[in-house]
Amino acid sequence: MKILGIETSCDETAASVVEDGKILLSNVIASSVDLHAAYGGVVPEIAARSHLESILPVVDEAVKSVGWNKVDAIAVTQGPGLSGSLLIGVMTARTLAITKQKPLYAIDHVHAHVYAAYITKTSLPGYKLPAQQPKFPLLALIVSGGHTQLVLFKNHLSYTVLGQTADDAVGEAFDKVAKILGLPYPGGPSVSKAAERGNAKAVKLPTAKMENPYDFSFSGLKTAVLRASQAIVGKDYTLPSYELAGLLSDSQKNDIAASFQRTALETLITPARNAVDEFNPADIVVAGGVAANTELRRLLSKNFGDKVIHTDMKLCTDNAAMIATLGFYKASLGQPKADPYSLEIDPNLSM
Ligand code: KG4
Ligand code: ZN
Repeated sequence: MKILGIETSCDETAASVVEDGKILLSNVIASSVDLHAAYGGVVPEIAARSHLESILPVVDEAVKSVGWNKVDAIAVTQGPGLSGSLLIGVMTARTLAITKQKPLYAIDHVHAHVYAAYITKTSLPGYKLPAQQPKFPLLALIVSGGHTQLVLFKNHLSYTVLGQTADDAVGEAFDKVAKILGLPYPGGPSVSKAAERGNAKAVKLPTAKMENPYDFSFSGLKTAVLRASQAIVGKDYTLPSYELAGLLSDSQKNDIAASFQRTALETLITPARNAVDEFNPADIVVAGGVAANTELRRLLSKNFGDKVIHTDMKLCTDNAAMIATLGFYKASLGQPKADPYSLEIDPNLSM
């Protein structure tokens, strides 16, 4: 069964065809990230306009090598995400489902991030895919720009959310720290690059203590980075954060980035360790944009050995292959189809 996935929840316009929930046939991504960089974050109106320009060429490119007659169904991100962005993907998928007469499936973007790990084969160049699909019970650590969750899957589509962030998502914390340090958007990759050159023990930062052993919190850490940075340049809390980047030296920035990254990743590992001890999962998947962080990958492998399944970096950040893959499981497990005449976006959809 070949599924066309369509993803437009944030700033990536993506389409992909995946066969039987594991073979990647095409994976096309047009990102508007460069257009947002000047503003230091995603501008929803710019993202929506960019989706509108890219969606048809991106879908054409993804289907080109497969052919419409071989596509069995369409899966589209219904939410969560930016309304204007989601609308472009959902309206395109609805129209295609009607005109090409294909069944339509509505997909939860956050849930789908986990399904990138189910892609194990491709003849496309440049992918480093896991050798085997994840086994159940499966522990998923979902770490993206909008979400930080620990989810225990008993089976496909049957899961319990064990814990989540009480405030900011971990990706959001990377993005905010990048802003404080004057590092380019998106913050995750630039903070981790600076961290490679810094001393992770240079700045002492607090880790949050949570009541639920599987919960996370990052907003205190972000504030602690701001206060530490102000102290390093000899100022107090009244110094506006936008003046900091100009006062910090490169080596100070590197040390702050490394110390922040170390603390943020420790904040992820502790609840994951608690869940592994309690539920003894067969496999562990780390999913979402922050899963592209090399140091997080190293730490997870160090802590949990070969139980950890690493997704290719290109499939960690937003893509449509994960949407198509979850679409396959929904279709093959007889989940209800979406009505192409009435499917609506759900910007606040949650697992
Ligand atoms: O999953 P994703 O592409 O979009 C959402 O669904 O949010 O995740 C984007 C997030 C951003 O916050 C970005 O800064 C972060 O993932 N990110 C990283 C890295 N690459 C992307 N964070 C840390 N290290 C990275 N290498
Ligand atoms: Zn995402």
